[in-house]
Amino acid sequence: MSLDQNLDKVVIIDFGSQFTQLIARRIRELGVFSEIVSHKKIRTSDINQSVRGIILSGGPLNVYQINKYSFDKKILELNIPILGICFGHQILSKLNGGRVRQSKHREFGLANIFKKRDSLLTKNFYGVKKTKEVWMSHADQVSKLPKNFQVIASSTNSKYAIVENKLKKYYGVQFHPEVTHTENGKKLISNFVFLICKIKKNWSSKDQKIKLINEVRDQVGSHKVICALSGGVDSSVVAQLLNKAIGKKLYCIFVNTGLLRKDEETQVVQTFKKRLKMNLIYVNAENEFLGKLKNVSDPEKKRKIIGNLFIKIFERYAKKIKDVKFLAQGTLYPDLIESKSVTGSQTSKIKSHHNVGGLPKKMNLKLVEPLKFLFKDEVRKLGLELKLSKEIISRHPFPGPGLAIRMPGNITNEKIKILKEADYYFIQALKDHGLYHKIWQAYAALLPVKTVGVMGDNRTYEYLCLLRAITSEDGMTADFFEFRKSFMQTISNKIVNSIRGINRVVYDVTSKPPSTIELE
Ligand code: XMP
Repeated sequence: MSLDQNLDKVVIIDFGSQFTQLIARRIRELGVFSEIVSHKKIRTSDINQSVRGIILSGGPLNVYQINKYSFDKKILELNIPILGICFGHQILSKLNGGRVRQSKHREFGLANIFKKRDSLLTKNFYGVKKTKEVWMSHADQVSKLPKNFQVIASSTNSKYAIVENKLKKYYGVQFHPEVTHTENGKKLISNFVFLICKIKKNWSSKDQKIKLINEVRDQVGSHKVICALSGGVDSSVVAQLLNKAIGKKLYCIFVNTGLLRKDEETQVVQTFKKRLKMNLIYVNAENEFLGKLKNVSDPEKKRKIIGNLFIKIFERYAKKIKDVKFLAQGTLYPDLIESKSVTGSQTSKIKSHHNVGGLPKKMNLKLVEPLKFLFKDEVRKLGLELKLSKEIISRHPFPGPGLAIRMPGNITNEKIKILKEADYYFIQALKDHGLYHKIWQAYAALLPVKTVGVMGDNRTYEYLCLLRAITSEDGMTADFFEFRKSFMQTISNKIVNSIRGINRVVYDVTSKPPSTIELE
């Protein structure tokens, strides 16, 4: 186990909490470097001079199981400030001679804590009323404090909601200051980092960029790496990071499925090949995709055909490059959390997602996933640091199967052409009216129904265009965006007047759930 030697840092010892990455993220947001290590791996000898504070995370264990785990308890005796969170708080108490018991009242969700004593940890943390709403999630709790510990705050159910041993700089909190539900939780973490550990700011997107570039270089050495580029935020940032790290050893493969947005292939080639001088292989597979999709109207079949063909094409080109050892992917931290089942329950399959990530297992390539500890907003900041344009960084998400799933029913060249135009006008109008960045995702879809209209003195019988624009935090739930009538009139007129083939525009006013964001 080797920790970085150079930067002053807070080390987070992970006991398996689903929030561990959030703790690291909060500390990085404060401009301070932090590293996460598993409680099974870290030893006293790993703790070097640069470790200025230690956080013990929460976790699903109970303290009486701790002996089963190989946690090196001497770490607590290195004269370094320690903050225990939830389970971490319980271990800190237990290992110092306190007692932990299963509580009669399990506490999940918001609870009020009441101030008992001043502490550096809670400086400017409470409001004027000396209470604070915090997020609890525990069954066990500390029932007897160790010697030399004092109560700083209590809740109705947890007498020892915040405790400290001032002399040893041990701090314990029963709740989770790292989650946004804990009001002002960031202040508490900031007090630990700056007032107690006395670390100075040393971490920015620029530092992060340099660190990730060095890590990629260490991992791949002089080997070749391939990367599926979609032009979306995550794959663009990964590609540019690897471009900076290993230059021409990176081979990006960009597949034009024929189902991209208007002019997207030109923009991607222009940006990545011409401007950023990347080793980009542009594969025009329009005919192959559209051929395979001919007369297919079942959503799941469409998705499978596109996903499988994508892998086939990717493999074909990867083989041509020869001696490739690594596959770079834009996996983000939320993808990792989602793939770990927190509750152990199986979720039912709604759609077979096709992503440029997750490819292709049987090629036996080692994965390079430099963004796997980052959240979307951190990736965006990193992208800007890597000189990617704002346009790429803040683009709405676009699904792997592209326009195919925005065109219920069978796919034809005529429909694709109409849809590309409609989507272009819609997105352009959002940009012109300053709405694009207020909306999480927006698109036009083409419904497989024709309706009657009248243009001039003539009857028309044409397709129905559906517009969807949603607000969301993460795409898991969503609400429709409320436009003004004048905007809706403008865009409806523009689409109907400019595009032959559409004579009616409707707006989707369903949220997710019960609908999904895409139509298929
Ligand atoms: P749904 O339709 O499931 O979409 O509510 C949630 C988010 O995921 C995007 N999406 C996909 N992204 N491959 C992707 O990379 C896919 O197969 C796929 N299907 C949906 C969708 O655009 C929305 O942002």
